Amino acid sequence: MLAMSKYKLLGATALAIVTAVVATSCKDKQSTGWQYAPNMYEHIAFEYDQKNPNFKDGKTAQVPPAGTIPVGFTRFDYPNTRAGYDQASAEVKNPLPSTPANFEEGKVLFLHFCSPCHGENGQGDGLVTQHGYPPPPSYSKGQSSRGGAMKDLTDGKIYHTVTYGVNAMGSYASQLSPEERWKVIMYVHHLQTL
Ligand code: HEC
Repeated sequence: MLAMSKYKLLGATALAIVTAVVATSCKDKQSTGWQYAPNMYEHIAFEYDQKNPNFKDGKTAQVPPAGTIPVGFTRFDYPNTRAGYDQASAEVKNPLPSTPANFEEGKVLFLHFCSPCHGENGQGDGLVTQHGYPPPPSYSKGQSSRGGAMKDLTDGKIYHTVTYGVNAMGSYASQLSPEERWKVIMYVHHLQTL
């Protein structure tokens, strides 16, 4: 009795496998076979790289209209040039209120992101300078490579520098959000007075 049911089970399993293979084998190479919930694969929305009759140029991925900015994006329309640096200096001001909380956050960000080179007190004596990295000028006593004293660097000049970098200093645009950059700048202004 037991032996019988073993063979039956084996037979049923074999039949199930054969049925599954036959049912799912492709008739033509393009076929995806049987699909569970096919609207997950063939949905009604257009793929971005598909042709699209709804637009004049027939493309789904449309170029956004001129002047469009992503949600949450902050514009900074000053190019990475000397003229852009000077123009930012004249026109750009810190939009954040000067509160103790912003200042304290700026300090934390400065210690994490800037002090390895600029030093904890902004004197250009960070840890990496002890290992051969060219020391940046002191914020309070040094001269900017673009002319003028470091202590006179304006909001716009510092924001431009943190956004684009300058010479041996890289851009911090991908590490610090515009708001975080402004908090750091509050702290840099403090270091300019030391
Ligand atoms: C990898 C080292 C390094 C790090 C990290 C770094 N800097 Fe610098 N920074 C430099 C060097 C080197 C210079 C001098 C560049 C030059 O003028 O040739 C400089 C210059 C500057 C200047 C002067 C720009 C000018 O107009 O002359 C400012 C302001 C400044 N850094 C701010 C920052 C801030 C804020 C941070 C952190 C977000 C930071 N830096 C992080 C290396 C660094």
